[in-house]
Amino acid sequence: MTPRTSSTRNARRARPVIAIDGPAGAGKSTVALQLAQRLGFVLVDTGALYRGVALAARERGVAWTEGALLGELTAALNLQFTPSPSGAPRLLIDGVDRSNDIRTPEISMGASDVSKHPEVRAALLDLQRRLGKDGGVVLEGRDIGTVVFPDAEAKVFLTASAEIRARRRVLDLAARGISADYDTTLAEIQARDAQDQGRAVAPLRPAEDAIMVDTTMMDINHVVSQLAEIARGKGA
Ligand code: DC
Repeated sequence: MTPRTSSTRNARRARPVIAIDGPAGAGKSTVALQLAQRLGFVLVDTGALYRGVALAARERGVAWTEGALLGELTAALNLQFTPSPSGAPRLLIDGVDRSNDIRTPEISMGASDVSKHPEVRAALLDLQRRLGKDGGVVLEGRDIGTVVFPDAEAKVFLTASAEIRARRRVLDLAARGISADYDTTLAEIQARDAQDQGRAVAPLRPAEDAIMVDTTMMDINHVVSQLAEIARGKGA
């Protein structure tokens, strides 16, 4: 095998980092999970971390508007992922599995609220980088390709129309036993888009070198195959 020079990216990481960003409901979670399984990579759902902060804050009486307090809370929390038989990693907060509790519509909006604060983003940055530093990982979120891993070997930005994203979200919640109204869900998605795109720190936007994939009319399997091909081209 030819020795690698220090100037190549792969000199630092034996396997690539795959960054998948995009708005709520674009299919990131499903695509990222299936892609990670296909490649034998670890999956890091960074939205779950922001959701965990929102949940912990609500339970401890810290308002989602209090940036400094939220930053302190985030730094003190022990957030960990643990594998599950279904493949989707579970989120442990201080050792307790809270994966189901972070998936409610209220916590979705709370996660978007807490994610506006630079103190919270800074407190989660190191953890996200540590989880991905060795490569062989698919990270999904809003700012992976722009902020967390600007040097990711593969960057994908998934999009879809707000209407199809709302429809998917309603079905997704229904599968978990939570009933949600389509119009309310669409309004929530539009509000969350505006907030995630409009925030001052690390707003939701594609990296300049991201590959744009519009999933509105695409079958998920097709998207996963397309991404697997991209990842293999980067050494996965
Ligand atoms: O992907 P999700 O719906 O679980 O994310 C919940 C919220 O967390 C989202 O509205 C914005 C925030 N988030 C973020 O700001 N940066 C990330 N990398 C991931 C999520």
